[in-house]
Amino acid sequence: MMNDNKRVGVLGAGLMGSGIVEVCARSGCDVISYEVSPEASAAGRKRVEASLGKALAKGKISEAEHAETLGRIRYTSDLDDLADRQLTFEAVIEREDIKLDLFTRLDKIVTDPEAVLSSNTSSIPIMKLAMATSRPDRVIGVHFFNPAPVQPLVELVPSLLTSDETSAAAEGFAAQVLGKTVIRSQDRAGFIVNSLLVPYILSAIRMYDSGFASVEDIDRGMELGCAHPMGPLKLADLIGLDTIQAISEAMYEEFKEPLHYAPPVLLRMVQAGLLGRKSGRGFYDYSR
Ligand code: CAA
Repeated sequence: MMNDNKRVGVLGAGLMGSGIVEVCARSGCDVISYEVSPEASAAGRKRVEASLGKALAKGKISEAEHAETLGRIRYTSDLDDLADRQLTFEAVIEREDIKLDLFTRLDKIVTDPEAVLSSNTSSIPIMKLAMATSRPDRVIGVHFFNPAPVQPLVELVPSLLTSDETSAAAEGFAAQVLGKTVIRSQDRAGFIVNSLLVPYILSAIRMYDSGFASVEDIDRGMELGCAHPMGPLKLADLIGLDTIQAISEAMYEEFKEPLHYAPPVLLRMVQAGLLGRKSGRGFYDYSR
């Protein structure tokens, strides 16, 4: 079954989308990368090619593999090009209205009734996305972690209406084709990892905002005291502060727990365009 899912479409070519494009193409899939405009598509292509260029320079892939991988990827800003896809990964900005619109349109475009329509959302209920389509049994959450080519985990999130066949196909693809380790979560905002991670990051932001400790010392504390590969504020910068805000709002909306509430300093930083690594500045300055 998972070998049937070789014609892959990835919606969104930002941080996560471009990583998923790379992972799928390196695993031998025929990939179409969709972005909303030719400019956004060109930026996504640059991201994928830069990452594959690094993999080549580091000797992780050979010249031949590099060329073959690039040859498996097509870029488009026309959603209709995804008509023949067997498996789609939606990885656009974490905004419910945009995702709902894409699922509604994709449902009308993808011709194979057996196709699996997945979302990389971190926090929006899969059920909402499923109900935007005429085939909720074929919709499932497949949540990757940043950087997608490196992190070995995928969270699989079936909704109440996802069929067993869809779950098995998505799990088989993630595990056997992409080589990821799969864990299963219920369809609750945040799933397993963000339910634990996001309150921790928000606590670190509150700690910094209250003057309790500096950005650097909070990060050093968790890196050297608990052997985390990066402290919570560096990690927030990697994930993107707009994404952290979106996840925290979705979790707050779902559970009404104060620990999910986005601290004002986070809102101000997002309003200022200080989104972390991708914008050049967040808790740290990446401009140099
Ligand atoms: N793409 C591909 N490879 C990458 C990469 C990228 N964007 N970034 C790093 N790498 C590779 C490097 O090439 C390097 O590979 P080798 O060891 O084979 O040479 C390896 O990863 C380590 O990279 P570095 O030596 O440059 O740096 P590092 O050791 O500090 O690792 C890191 C960087 C992999 C990002 C590591 O710090 C890490 O794992 N941090 C935690 C990341 C994390 O927690 N991610 C989850 C975020 S939560 C999420 O994504 C879900 C959500 O919904 C918010």
